[in-house]
Amino acid sequence: MKDVNVGICGLGTVGGGTFNVLTRNAAIIAGRAGCNIRIARVASRHSRDDLDLGNVPFSTDIYDVVNDPSIDIVVELIGGYDAAKELVLAAIANGKHVVTANKALIAVHGNEIFDAAEKTGVVVAYEAGVAGGIPVIKSVREGLAANRIDTIAGIINGTGNYILTEMRAGREFGEVLKEAQALGYAEADPTFDVEGIDAAHKLTILAASGFGVPLQFEKGFTEGISGITPYDISHAELLGYRVKHLGIARRREDGIELRVHPTLVPQSHLIAQVDGVLNAVLVDGDAVGQTMYYGPGAGDEATASAVIADIVDVARAVSSNSQQRIPYLGFTPDALEDLPVLPMEDVQSAYYLRIQAFDHPGVLAKIAAILSEHGINIESIMQKESEFKDGRIPVIILTHTVQERQMNLAIDEMESLADIDGKVVRIRAENFN
Ligand code: HSE
Repeated sequence: MKDVNVGICGLGTVGGGTFNVLTRNAAIIAGRAGCNIRIARVASRHSRDDLDLGNVPFSTDIYDVVNDPSIDIVVELIGGYDAAKELVLAAIANGKHVVTANKALIAVHGNEIFDAAEKTGVVVAYEAGVAGGIPVIKSVREGLAANRIDTIAGIINGTGNYILTEMRAGREFGEVLKEAQALGYAEADPTFDVEGIDAAHKLTILAASGFGVPLQFEKGFTEGISGITPYDISHAELLGYRVKHLGIARRREDGIELRVHPTLVPQSHLIAQVDGVLNAVLVDGDAVGQTMYYGPGAGDEATASAVIADIVDVARAVSSNSQQRIPYLGFTPDALEDLPVLPMEDVQSAYYLRIQAFDHPGVLAKIAAILSEHGINIESIMQKESEFKDGRIPVIILTHTVQERQMNLAIDEMESLADIDGKVVRIRAENFN
């Protein structure tokens, strides 16, 4: 059996998991790939005493991997933007195929990287960058190749979902985040998880490969979960909804919606049942209908599973000298459509509103009048006398679907009322019918 040589750059959570699974399951993987996948070199700024690297050469300079002429596939697991981009472009220039778990790199620099790779004729594979161990990129690019895809939505950050799940059980945000970090789920900078940047990276990649548009990370809308309170989680539950941090991409005639924000989802929907570090991605194809992909969204060996699946794909092509390539974004570059990303004001959604009202007669009538002036229909309204405190009482309103532009105007007007204290809290709601 032929050897295909792999060099791993980065020995963090995913790098360690990749090394361990490739070593442990070497025979099974070789049987599937039709060649031996040989770890020829490992490089990482920091060594790991807990990993038994055996006879595999180790160095602290990642360019030892990129410049090793024996290496066929460079596995980039160092993370981040700039150093990873330089490394990957150097690997491509040296004629090496690249497998990466780096969603930030692909979402932000992917157009340039794919362009360079196309010219050199090498593969850049990134399954592990989106939804951890779930093979959703393969499903979208290959399994659903027959479909026109108009909606992709889901829970695509394990850390955020873990935090929201534990907060529902009454635990405190900061304490749960620390736990997610200790478990190896969070990004090096956990702001990327809690402020939705990581999910936006993944959504950008999903939208591009599902809709056939270029990567447009910088144009999406991103709102995190750091403002979500236990109060809103429990009141959403009372209304029959669960708060989830979703990435939602929709293809419309006039452009694409690309947005990450906390979202109320009906408790009966499958997405509402996805808890802890698990991810789920819903993909709606015109031929197949609604499909959902579910599994671990983070973690060492779960993510390694996706890294290695990509290595196997590339190794099969290398060992059989095949020139057949799946286009980087699932569509040939000339078939990509230049659809604009729509401003958030053009998006339609239902809303959960929490308004801190002074307990005056007529407050509810004023709120209702403002909503009605902007064509906003109320689905339900909740005000509990037991929550009256210091002359104020929270009013919770669930609206029907309305354009965000109208909701912005209504909120501005409500906040200018003397009967309202502070800012109106809004959480968007989706039914996915
Ligand atoms: N920090 C990421 C998450 C890791 O929590 O989903 C997997 O991409």
